[in-house]
Amino acid sequence: MGLENQRSFPMVIQQWPASTSPPRTSGKLPAGFVVQPCFTGLAKRVFLEAMAINYSEEPMSEITVEANNVHKSYLLGATAVGALRGVDLSVMRGEFVALMGPSGCGKTTLLNIIGAIDLPSRGSVRIEGVDLQGLSDDHLADLRRDRLGMVFQFYNLIPTLTARENVEIPMQFKGAKAAAQRSRALELLERVGLKDRADHKPSELSGGEQQRVSIARALANEPALVLLDEPTGDLDSATGAEVIALLRDLNRREQVTMVIATHDHTIAEQSSRIVKLRDGKIETPAAS
Ligand SMILES: Nc1ncnc2c1ncn2[C@@H]1O[C@H](COP(=O)(O)OP(=O)(O)OP(=O)(O)O)[C@@H](O)[C@H]1O
Ligand SMILES: [Mg+2]
Repeated sequence: MGLENQRSFPMVIQQWPASTSPPRTSGKLPAGFVVQPCFTGLAKRVFLEAMAINYSEEPMSEITVEANNVHKSYLLGATAVGALRGVDLSVMRGEFVALMGPSGCGKTTLLNIIGAIDLPSRGSVRIEGVDLQGLSDDHLADLRRDRLGMVFQFYNLIPTLTARENVEIPMQFKGAKAAAQRSRALELLERVGLKDRADHKPSELSGGEQQRVSIARALANEPALVLLDEPTGDLDSATGAEVIALLRDLNRREQVTMVIATHDHTIAEQSSRIVKLRDGKIETPAAS
């Protein structure tokens, strides 16, 4: 039974839903096609062997983000504004990248495209080897929920919920049990130094504390990648420095890859690499 017959098994071999890291199949499946996760263990191995697919359980590539020739244009009336004009960017697992450049150079646009919130006009983005372009809306939503965390300048917390309840939201979307959500939320709040603020609502927290809650929320489902858009932009410099130290510590201890759009030179100093954007293009992808 050859691979040409795979179309007879649409429920078995198809594009990998982003909710779990795909296994590597060594080159015999068409790009982007892997075995469905519901089809696991011995059954998967037997099936793959029957299909003559050389299968191994090796981990995925060490590249967390791979953006190739990404363009993004916005139509303003009849005029196309080129926000991104051919961005190539690779981010390795565990990197702490500062994405810098003047206002309007395309930092937020690029983060939104890497974060599967927005689509490129041209080019491709892979997260942990999975091409976003090939995913359905449901699978993109799974990927955002399970592999990505987002942190914004103005925290985006739900004002009527407590810190703990805000951190629980991504876990609720994943269907975690209430007790598990609660204990993980408390553990995360402890990790960001806020265990004693768990029952506070956002209005009862300082800016730095709210940002730490949003960082805890971004980590809730153990993402591979956290994208942060000016996380210290609304904080005074001392509070900002605390938040940066926390991020760097989480990055180092837990190997969470972080890409941070920022104007803050303290973040740049702490980063493992600075990527500079100018007019929608990468200026110096040099290591710092
Ligand atoms: N929804 C939109 N419609 C039209 N143009 C847009 C839209 N979003 C962004 N742009 C334009 O795209 C370009 C890049 O914007 P972007 O927000 O990515 O910049 P930025 O680097 O994040 O800037 P800042 O440092 O001020 O946050 C800008 O010229 C902006 O005006
Ligand atoms: Mg921006």
